[in-house]
Amino acid sequence: MCGIVGAIATHDIVPVLLDGLRRLEYRGYDSAGVAVLNGSLRRLRSTGRVAELMRLASEQRFTGNAGIAHTRWATHGGVTERNAHPHVSRDVLAVVHNGIIENHEPLRARLQAEGYAFASDTDTEVIAHLIHSHLGGERDLLGATRAAIAELEGAYAIGVAWLDEKSHLVCARKGAPLCLGLQDGAGYFASDASALIAVTRHMVYLDEGDVAEISLTGHRIVDTTGAVVDRPVHESQLSADDVDLGQYSHYMQKEIFEQPGAVANTLEHLVALRSATPALFGEGAAEVLGGVSLVTVLACGTSFHAGLVARYWLESIAGIPCNVEVASEYRYRDTVPDPNALVLTISQSGETADTIAALQHAKSLGHTRTLTICNAAESTLTRQSRLRLLTRAGPEIGVASTKAFTTQLAALFTLTLTLARLNGRLDTRREAELLAQLRHLPAALQHVLAVEPRVIAWARRFAAKHHCLFLGRGIHYPIALEGALKLKEISYIHAEAYPAGELKHGPLALVDEDMPVVAIAPNDALVEKLKSNLQEVRARGGELYVFADRDTKIEPSDGVHVIKLTDHAGWLSPILHVLPLQLLAYHTAVARGTDVDKPRNLAKSVTVE
Ligand code: M6R
Repeated sequence: MCGIVGAIATHDIVPVLLDGLRRLEYRGYDSAGVAVLNGSLRRLRSTGRVAELMRLASEQRFTGNAGIAHTRWATHGGVTERNAHPHVSRDVLAVVHNGIIENHEPLRARLQAEGYAFASDTDTEVIAHLIHSHLGGERDLLGATRAAIAELEGAYAIGVAWLDEKSHLVCARKGAPLCLGLQDGAGYFASDASALIAVTRHMVYLDEGDVAEISLTGHRIVDTTGAVVDRPVHESQLSADDVDLGQYSHYMQKEIFEQPGAVANTLEHLVALRSATPALFGEGAAEVLGGVSLVTVLACGTSFHAGLVARYWLESIAGIPCNVEVASEYRYRDTVPDPNALVLTISQSGETADTIAALQHAKSLGHTRTLTICNAAESTLTRQSRLRLLTRAGPEIGVASTKAFTTQLAALFTLTLTLARLNGRLDTRREAELLAQLRHLPAALQHVLAVEPRVIAWARRFAAKHHCLFLGRGIHYPIALEGALKLKEISYIHAEAYPAGELKHGPLALVDEDMPVVAIAPNDALVEKLKSNLQEVRARGGELYVFADRDTKIEPSDGVHVIKLTDHAGWLSPILHVLPLQLLAYHTAVARGTDVDKPRNLAKSVTVE
């Protein structure tokens, strides 16, 4: 969840470190800090945002040719300056860390007994003292780091700077992402390539257990066995525009409006091939996907909601049963493994600790058919899954997931068509019809985004509310869940979603004139049932805000507000209906003045359990 950057060059690297932190701030934004080797080991830290650290650095003329920096999402220890990274050992060695060290308590006790004084409540400080304790004798910084991490349990990406070895920095990873950025006469590392995009496009992704050294003359990587290894150099496809705000006020707004393009990019290969084939999922996919008897989805948050939508598609179109599991729960329950099950992880980042752990648990149960739908090509989930289908949403920076969700749905529909064909459930004519609908999807998404001004008017009313209910039926119930998640996470309004038929079994007791009720009302087979449920709300004085299809027969009346989107889109309808809910959450949050892209207590990539 935290972001780390390291840099060494012949010039002042503080601007590079701080710009990198600014780009990584979405990963955590409780506090930030930087340490440089500049005659002595100097450190600057502050609670709050990177902007504050930038202000302090400029005020104090903080410079250096080698350094490490960090933006924090607090786990161990409160949000205070003394808990902010970098953490220092004996004034000579500094460490930044992303992840959690599970055995920090016994290590702390041992190091204290060895005379190390602790200045913070963090697990990270243990790493600094531990590496320091391994220095000396034959050991250089890389050797001491290797010796130290051999004693660590948990997940980490770390960066280390030591005053005695000013000509290089060391970094290491296990269970958290880390890449090197290459440039002649300089060296960099960061948790995410986007942090380095202003200085280099040439990236090397470290493997699990790698330890690396960067210097002015190049880099050296050592694997878990101690062997020096070469890792491939990737040319990053990110552009500065991908990670800049451009004309928009917030990344979330930018990302909402990028959805037509992002979905078109994700569907490009399928549409070009004119048929859903296993080849879309990588080598050996025909063997893995053929004969699948069950799909088990493992995911968290918004990605979990995408899985819930896919269940309807997989069961109805492909005729394959589907379980959708909250990844953080899956491994704590006994399941009955089906050898022909496809274990499908869904993740924007590919680094969500709970989803990775769930996949590892599934593998430990003997599951071998694994597929990930993921937005990060070089992520832990893509590396650990046999097959992958990449969503091509581009970087998603707003903490609230938007374009990741709709591109996941596009990818899940591709999977559904592929399994349906393999399962003999999709003839050529029906497939051609569904592909034609898919081709039209980006244009339909664009059309739906045009409702924004009307949604803004609703959002002004929502801004004054404390609670809100979202209702949907069938395949649109997960969309109601997603709408409620969006609203609560960025506007801090308490929101709940229910299948509309469930209202009378309890939640109807909450409905009064202060409880706005948002209903998703596509013109599908359940619309008449939904209308009856909405009557139940209206009869109790509840005010209804209905997102309907153009052909849904619901009209505005007293206490019933209606926005019509477009003609009913059949199986693809959920992908369209989530857009106004994203806009509603966004504009409500803007009206309430919250920090939309960095909501309190959250972080973009949840790399801790
Ligand atoms: O990167 P992932 O898709 O694995 O992330 C899963 C959730 O943490 C994420 O969707 C989260 O719920 C979002 N903040 C929702 O907007």
